Amino acid sequence: MRAIVTTRNGDVDVLKVEECPDPVPAKGQVLTRVKASGLNFADILARQGLYPDGPPKPCVMGYEVAGTVEAVGDEVDRILIGKSVIAMTRFGGQAELVAAPVAQIFEKPERLSFEQGAAIPVNYLTAWALLVAMGGLKKGESVLIHNAGGGVGLAALDIAKHLGAKTYGTASASKHDFLNQRGLDHAIDYRNQDWLPVLMDLTQGRGVELAIDPLGGPSWKKSYKALRTSGRMGVFGMSIASASGIKGKLRALKALAQTPRFHPLGMMNRNKGVFGLNLGHMWNEGEKFASWTREIMRGVEEGWIRPHVDRAFSFDQVADAHRYIESRKNIGKVVLVP
Ligand SMILES: NC(=O)c1ccc[n+]([C@@H]2O[C@H](COP(=O)([O-])OP(=O)(O)OC[C@H]3O[C@@H](n4cnc5c(N)ncnc54)[C@H](OP(=O)(O)O)[C@@H]3O)[C@@H](O)[C@H]2O)c1
Repeated sequence: MRAIVTTRNGDVDVLKVEECPDPVPAKGQVLTRVKASGLNFADILARQGLYPDGPPKPCVMGYEVAGTVEAVGDEVDRILIGKSVIAMTRFGGQAELVAAPVAQIFEKPERLSFEQGAAIPVNYLTAWALLVAMGGLKKGESVLIHNAGGGVGLAALDIAKHLGAKTYGTASASKHDFLNQRGLDHAIDYRNQDWLPVLMDLTQGRGVELAIDPLGGPSWKKSYKALRTSGRMGVFGMSIASASGIKGKLRALKALAQTPRFHPLGMMNRNKGVFGLNLGHMWNEGEKFASWTREIMRGVEEGWIRPHVDRAFSFDQVADAHRYIESRKNIGKVVLVP
């Protein structure tokens, strides 16, 4: 099979499409022929050498695919063979074939294309965990979604709107029209102005009940300030560090140095809370993933989960796909197709 190999840390030239041995499904596993594979910010950070959870290099990244079941291992029902599925893959998804435990496979709804299917697991499970499971967002509350035009951002917007929350989102200005069409109540250009006073003005000085922040470092301090009484902040990334080579390492160190410390007494007296999410540290929580996925699939059937694929790049164009996200051009999901 062909696979996208991240050969070492570096710029996009370290990404190579190589022939690799076909995986064989072990007991309890399903082998999927990949039609589309999700590209995530984590794949970029991994290439840059800034993602501690990634496998040792050379490696094939890829947390999610959509495709058809090619074969199954022992103890898996052969009825699955030929079915269209979406799979969560603990790496290896950016390949023509990938094997994953049957518990991480679910049937692809017919109304989704393979490309849309590959846009579901990481973005929507992350957004579900942040807004529903951990953030407890309620009807009538307000939420600040950073990078609202990105993959997780658009997923969070779908869910927040369904819950009946008021939505504020930061994004590059070029994405604001699209975000307004998708139903974002207030888009804030955070790159050409300080977003915090703008948000405070929009909320009559009160702030929001929930902020979700994947930027890291000093941004977490500001997002905490943006919380209203009873507010919660979900931290889930460090995009601010993104860069290749020594620049990335320096940015990561600076972000770590600027990371705020939240004291329990301070949180108690301010009536605020902070929580963190790392989906990649939840592989032992299959039941949670399954129940969240059921809700998300219900949303697909009911039409309020609307995975938006901005662009599909062929495996051979993987360098362009990485550059596209790094240069902040993507609105929603970027997928790779064999
Ligand atoms: N902890 C978890 O479990 C988990 C799971 C999934 C994703 N994440 C994190 O969530 C964030 C979003 O992930 P995603 O896959 O949905 O990606 P994404 O939002 O589609 O990523 C690209 C967007 O991020 C924004 N951005 C902010 N800082 C950036 C920078 N320094 N360089 C490039 N783009 C930057 C840009 O949009 P604007 O300029 O318009 O804002 C860009 O278009 C990432 O930090 C990722 O690591 C965490």
